[in-house]
Amino acid sequence: MSENPYLSGNFAPVDQERTDLELEVTGQIPVELSGRLLRIGPNPIAPNPETYHWFTGNGMLHGVRLREGRAEWYRNRFVLDDEIVEARGLPPVAGPARDMLGGGVANTNVIGHAGKTYAIIEAGNLPVELTDELETVARVDFGGTLPGGFTAHPKRDPDTGELHCAVYSPMFEQIQHVVVGADGKVNRVVDVPVPGRPMVHDCALTENFFILLDLPVILDPETGSSFPFAWHPEYGARVGLLPRNGQADEVVWCEVEPCFVFHPLNAYEDEDGRVVLDVIRHPKMFATDSHGLNEGVPTLDRWIVDPRGGKVKEERLDDRGQEFPRMDERRIGKPYRYGYTTRFEEVGFGGIYKHDLKDGKIEVHDEGPARQFMEAVFVPRSDDADEDDGWVMTYVYDASSNKTDVVIQHAQDFSGAPVATIHLPARVPFGFHGNWLPDAG
Ligand SMILES: [Fe+2]
Repeated sequence: MSENPYLSGNFAPVDQERTDLELEVTGQIPVELSGRLLRIGPNPIAPNPETYHWFTGNGMLHGVRLREGRAEWYRNRFVLDDEIVEARGLPPVAGPARDMLGGGVANTNVIGHAGKTYAIIEAGNLPVELTDELETVARVDFGGTLPGGFTAHPKRDPDTGELHCAVYSPMFEQIQHVVVGADGKVNRVVDVPVPGRPMVHDCALTENFFILLDLPVILDPETGSSFPFAWHPEYGARVGLLPRNGQADEVVWCEVEPCFVFHPLNAYEDEDGRVVLDVIRHPKMFATDSHGLNEGVPTLDRWIVDPRGGKVKEERLDDRGQEFPRMDERRIGKPYRYGYTTRFEEVGFGGIYKHDLKDGKIEVHDEGPARQFMEAVFVPRSDDADEDDGWVMTYVYDASSNKTDVVIQHAQDFSGAPVATIHLPARVPFGFHGNWLPDAG
């Protein structure tokens, strides 16, 4: 049997939960950065190498706390689920009891909303509330307002503070538009029927539309791995424009060439009312390898979607392999100029890219092949700072030391030396997503 690539190298899980205080720093952490840089990914406690899929491992959080120019702590903690509490002899995870996939695993993203911190995942499981120091509190359904599961990729409307979510479940032929208000309660649920059971990892938002991705990675119990979705191009591929306050029968569906998108970068409406949707496009997904992510180069593409209908117009912005797109989230759903992506080729990481989408310029930050950057998070210098006046913060695995650093650089000096490199005493496995959670006030 060949080795499972998602259990080796820096994909391999770590077995220790650590708390390390007053971290070593090269350079100077900007004093404006007061809060926590959190990340999450799969960290299976007892995987079967023959069936283990990267998307299904028990969740583990990693966090660094910054204050007054210091890195106060690094912590990593499991997100408790049924398998972990049983293995450790702990009481069951608190919160609503529901049928949960994989024992209630939450491993894909970590967000702050309405004063709380949540580990989140798609396809049916509930969010898991965490303490500021990353201990599991309980599974939550937002005070009984969340009817089903959640998503790993809510989009926060920068004007209202609401979270817009595409929620799906392998049980239903639908995609739900779920909106969580700034008060932390769900205030809208609209079920949009689709002709199958697609995997819907992410979504996008514009001034007038919530954007649905109905793409040909479909429920398929025959995959042989613990992840039951596979490539079925005969399903077709469509982008749906749902008026933000509209009903399911108002969705305008526009066909697109079959492909798979985990992550849009952003979307907005142009002067002609067309939707500009920038995405990381994989030509196929889970077609020949149920472990996936290696079926052609994931490129940065621009899609033009016309609310009057017709096929999506596609344009390639950058043909290098890249993933984990991020931007200045004050501009979600609005015209924007800058995007940040992570090099991702043959399931391998490297440097990061800054895209100037106005001038078509691309800058690279690369610290050599041993330094493997994960998802880059942009943090503005202040609430009213210019779009790229802020910092790009990234967890970086260093293969030569087998440890991880957090690199902070100013976005306007993207290729230059970092302003600070925080040295963690441990390895953070390659995972999925994270965010900067600033201190309140
Ligand atoms: Fe994702």
